[in-house]
Amino acid sequence: MKSFHIITFGCQMNEHDSERMTGILEEQGCITSSVVEHADIVILNTCSIREKAEQKFYSELGRLKKLKDTRPGLKIAVAGCIAQQEGANILSRAPYVDMVFGPSDISRLPAMIERKRSWSLPVVDVAGDPDYHRKRIPTTRTDRLKAWVSIMYGCDNYCTYCVVPYLRGRERSRLPLEIVREVRELTRKGYKEVTLLGQNVNSYGKGLEEDTNFPSLLGMVNNVPDIERIRFVTSHPRDLSDGLIATLRDFPKVCESLHLPVQSGSNDILSAMNRRYTREVYLGKIKRLREAVPHITLTTDIIVGFPGEQERDFEMTMDLLEEVQYDGIFAFKYSKRPGTAALKHDGHLSDDIKEKRLAQVLDLQGKITSRNNEKLINSVQEVLVDGLSKKGVTLSGRTRGNKAVNFDAPAHLIGSLVMVRITAAGINSLTGQLCE
Ligand code: 5AD
Ligand code: SF4
Repeated sequence: MKSFHIITFGCQMNEHDSERMTGILEEQGCITSSVVEHADIVILNTCSIREKAEQKFYSELGRLKKLKDTRPGLKIAVAGCIAQQEGANILSRAPYVDMVFGPSDISRLPAMIERKRSWSLPVVDVAGDPDYHRKRIPTTRTDRLKAWVSIMYGCDNYCTYCVVPYLRGRERSRLPLEIVREVRELTRKGYKEVTLLGQNVNSYGKGLEEDTNFPSLLGMVNNVPDIERIRFVTSHPRDLSDGLIATLRDFPKVCESLHLPVQSGSNDILSAMNRRYTREVYLGKIKRLREAVPHITLTTDIIVGFPGEQERDFEMTMDLLEEVQYDGIFAFKYSKRPGTAALKHDGHLSDDIKEKRLAQVLDLQGKITSRNNEKLINSVQEVLVDGLSKKGVTLSGRTRGNKAVNFDAPAHLIGSLVMVRITAAGINSLTGQLCE
């Protein structure tokens, strides 16, 4: 196997898994092919969080089949959540697939490729490696300044709409010293920012022998010299402790930005989702967060059209958006997922209703985001310059609150922290002027 190309669907976890697969394969002497048509092996790193992601994967697979028809030597591998969910079933739908493996099987990738060399049948390995979280995995990162660092895998929450706990398994935390070692190594390579990754970072440490938790891990990472910024995703509101709020307030490198998925503003729906917090508890935490860190950037996830969601439940979600005034949201139509409890709930809604509610939340949030961004005009923000703007004429970077800023400055500033005065604001980005 000489060259490979990875197509990634879904979340940051998957993006990072693809970086690890790249690292593993490069260590074996394989090279990345930036063009899919030239690769000897194509890996689809899949997502199954919503039906739409699954459809995208199957249409990509269809395109690859056509490529394989013209080049029978091409090997096609399916990785990630759909691989975990479907296992060998993928082969009945797509017999031309050569390898199927799950998210915690990637360290066995070289062995699978080796097996495939001498074996004509497809290789399916979705057993999951129980020691995956204790392994050091070679990683080739796509960015040179900002790095993802996995701190835990899996999720024990079983929200009733969510397929993740069935696919990514029980929560397992990496050892704190291993995480710190990885962050130190990153600083030696010039990385300035780390984003600590996990499905539920706030319950980090559960199950580890040593007595640790997420705030104390953040403290350790905060002490690594030369790392400038620390971010993390995803936090479950129920597990957001006062300790974590204090961390956001007190640790200078921990950025003032938090993604705190609320999902719904209605207590009936939150309960049906098995979220295990109420609207009031959630809002209480937001209030304490803002008291401790007044300018914190807050973002969230919303699901509209969960089974049984009445108009009044939906109105409560709209009302919550008005009340919190988030800086941004990700909003999704509820999507039926195999094996999840919500599938069997009463009151599934039509796509029309979901579509209409989605448009309403996005419209409302658009206005709120624009207003919030406009409030930043004339403020001075610390920006980590990460490259050229999308249009390629100015530099771009991110504020500590994770907002994108474009501004004119010499390219040698890429990689540094600079102060920028905000002069204009749009819904997706800010414009500014470098402070002398
Ligand atoms: N339907 C719609 N959205 C979902 N999410 C998770 N499962 C589903 C589903 N079945 C959303 C949640 C979660 C985000 C990552 O994806 O909002 O926070
Ligand atoms: Fe899914 Fe809920 Fe776990 Fe998030 S916390 S991964 S939504 S089960």
